[in-house]
Amino acid sequence: MKFDGRITIALSKGRIFKDTLPLLSHAGIIPIDDPETSRKLILDTNHPQIKLVIIRASDVPTYVQYGAADLGVAGKDVLLEHGGGGLYEPLDLQIAKCRLMVAGVKDAQLSENRLRIATKFVNSTRRHFATQGKQVEIIKLYGSMELAPLVGLSDLIVDVVDTGNTLKANGLMPLEHISDISSRLVVNKAAWKMKHKGITELVGALSMAVKERSTEGKNND
Ligand code: ATP
Ligand code: PRP
Repeated sequence: MKFDGRITIALSKGRIFKDTLPLLSHAGIIPIDDPETSRKLILDTNHPQIKLVIIRASDVPTYVQYGAADLGVAGKDVLLEHGGGGLYEPLDLQIAKCRLMVAGVKDAQLSENRLRIATKFVNSTRRHFATQGKQVEIIKLYGSMELAPLVGLSDLIVDVVDTGNTLKANGLMPLEHISDISSRLVVNKAAWKMKHKGITELVGALSMAVKERSTEGKNND
């Protein structure tokens, strides 16, 4: 497929890059370098007009909001924290699926007082407990949330859970479901207008790739 105009796509290393690659490939876009081995942050693709920028997962909405990238792939957890300003979210890519959950130590007696919650998802956590009419103290962390209740930093955590193995390995259990998470394609609102043809072609091709992947999955069941 020939895409019209220059397009920059923001991706993070690791699971999002790995899971987005087959969808891009289905749309005929193949990166020239591998971000796991290259130190480059701007990757060329087989399409001279299409570049990939490699950034932290939580920075993707910011790059796209400001138009530093036209499109990006970000987890719904990250988008809920960001708030979604300046972005369209036209497509659920159905990759990197997990759940945002409250978790805590098995059988712990929780205090009736204001609970302390350790998380990197400050906004989603505040919203979740506010809907229950609970005021909580939120301790912002950047990773390894599972450690916090084990060392007395917090009563509970809010984190993403997939297999539950990380919780289990640390003697924690899921307590409340906040939301189902998957990664979404996000598009800068101005780019959507200015580069409409190229972007809608690309969104269409990725949408086809998602549909075919889900049909293949059903056929393999
Ligand atoms: P940052 O580097 O910005 O702190 P991160 O380390 O959370 O982000 P990744 O671990 O690559 O980044 O996760 C990217 C996205 O994948 C998350 O935003 C979430 O939507 C999803 N995700 C996180 N953990 C899992 C998991 N264990 N299984 C499936 N999906 C996950
Ligand atoms: C994520 C998350 C949990 C774990 C949950 O961490 O922060 O720790 O996955 O997955 P599970 O339920 O299958 O065990 P990740 O592996 O992305 O490490 P990171 O937070 O250091 O990026």
